[in-house]
Amino acid sequence: MPRLKIIGGNTLSGTISISGAKNSAVALLPAALLSKTKSTIFKVPKIRDIEYLLKILDVLNCKCKIDKDMIEIDTSNLKNAPIPEELSEQMRASYYFMGTLLARFKKVEISFPGGCHIGARPIDLHIKGFEALGAKVEIIKNKYIITADELIGTRIYLDFASVGATINLMLAAAGAKGQTIIENAAREPEIVNVASFLISMGCNITGAGTSTIVIDGNDNLDNGVTEVFPDRIEASTYVILGALIGKDLHIKGIIKDHIEAVIIKLKDVGADFIVKNGEIIISKCEHPKATNVTTQVFPGFPTDVQQTFTVLLTQAEGTSTITETIYESRFVSAGLLNEMGAKTDANGNLLTIEGPTNLEGKELYIPDLRGGAALVLAGLIAKGETILDNIPLLLRGYEDIVEKLTAVGANLEIIE
Ligand code: UD1
Repeated sequence: MPRLKIIGGNTLSGTISISGAKNSAVALLPAALLSKTKSTIFKVPKIRDIEYLLKILDVLNCKCKIDKDMIEIDTSNLKNAPIPEELSEQMRASYYFMGTLLARFKKVEISFPGGCHIGARPIDLHIKGFEALGAKVEIIKNKYIITADELIGTRIYLDFASVGATINLMLAAAGAKGQTIIENAAREPEIVNVASFLISMGCNITGAGTSTIVIDGNDNLDNGVTEVFPDRIEASTYVILGALIGKDLHIKGIIKDHIEAVIIKLKDVGADFIVKNGEIIISKCEHPKATNVTTQVFPGFPTDVQQTFTVLLTQAEGTSTITETIYESRFVSAGLLNEMGAKTDANGNLLTIEGPTNLEGKELYIPDLRGGAALVLAGLIAKGETILDNIPLLLRGYEDIVEKLTAVGANLEIIE
């Protein structure tokens, strides 16, 4: 198995360009099935989740033409085939085929979705929403079988503003008769990205990005065109890295509003940066200050950034805390930071970090995608050599991470 070798201690300068957002792209590819003949998506990141989604599109008889970061998806011969477990279990986002295949065929057969082990991650809100639209959902062995005579638009209230449920129900509602209103919808940028794609196909959707989304069903959608938004989680990862070991490190291609909560916390720790023209220029924060972070739904501090932010807090003077409100088990990587010399203590959903601590290179196993990014950051600031095992998990979400970091002066390589 290939592993990632990192030698810490280098200062990073130059420019890192941000790729298209994983969590948008993984919804946009399944969303393309709503188009009768074809769709075009620009700025698709080259990451493992996309490779698996392309395999699922192949099972569904879609023809995909790829040119650099553009994917053209021909859906004119779309067929409704069961989605096999070895593909659906590779990622969380395979569940978006539930919404689109239900909209197109009123029948879906799909094995359980996969994704990082960071909590129980039920999909009851997706299921309840499909049922509210008139579908029948059965679980047979490890498969969901979802059928409907027809989908009828309705009012859906989400008990929690779930990103996945909001997008999945928006996709299903696009194929329903009449109007669907999703209340307490999630407001993450990914939802706006998917809505704009459906709008480009001819679907009437209002309110995406607010907590009430209204979708008028339309079975004549076609010719979707969109560009994947910049990845706010990748951007946050590299900005945090800049606060650790940057020297005028430019993080290019960001949307400031999408990472405002992270920017505010960077200011709290005393980071040295400027934001202008879709770029953040950041240098090492010499004496970071301790702070308290609580993860929240957008526009709050993203759960996907708490693990990398923890690395910065290991360098802060005093006691910092992270309160994780979205997932039950997202502190595994903090335990691994302790093996490198950090002083963190997890108690329920509260992580306490005592700093500053000197980190030392170690051989570690990547526990989950964002935890893997945290270990890369830790390896880059640590003394000596860090070896990370299980790198396919990291490559699920970071396009060209080794190339991007090497280009700004980091010492890391994939070894056999
Ligand atoms: C998406 C992102 C993930 C991010 C998360 C929160 C993708 C592919 N993944 O995950 O990177 O960490 O948003 O920003 O876009 N929940 C339920 N029932 C449901 C649905 C969710 O109880 O039916 C709970 C989950 O267990 C979790 C919380 O709600 O505790 C948030 O889940 P959700 O917003 O749905 O996240 P995902 O779509 O899985």
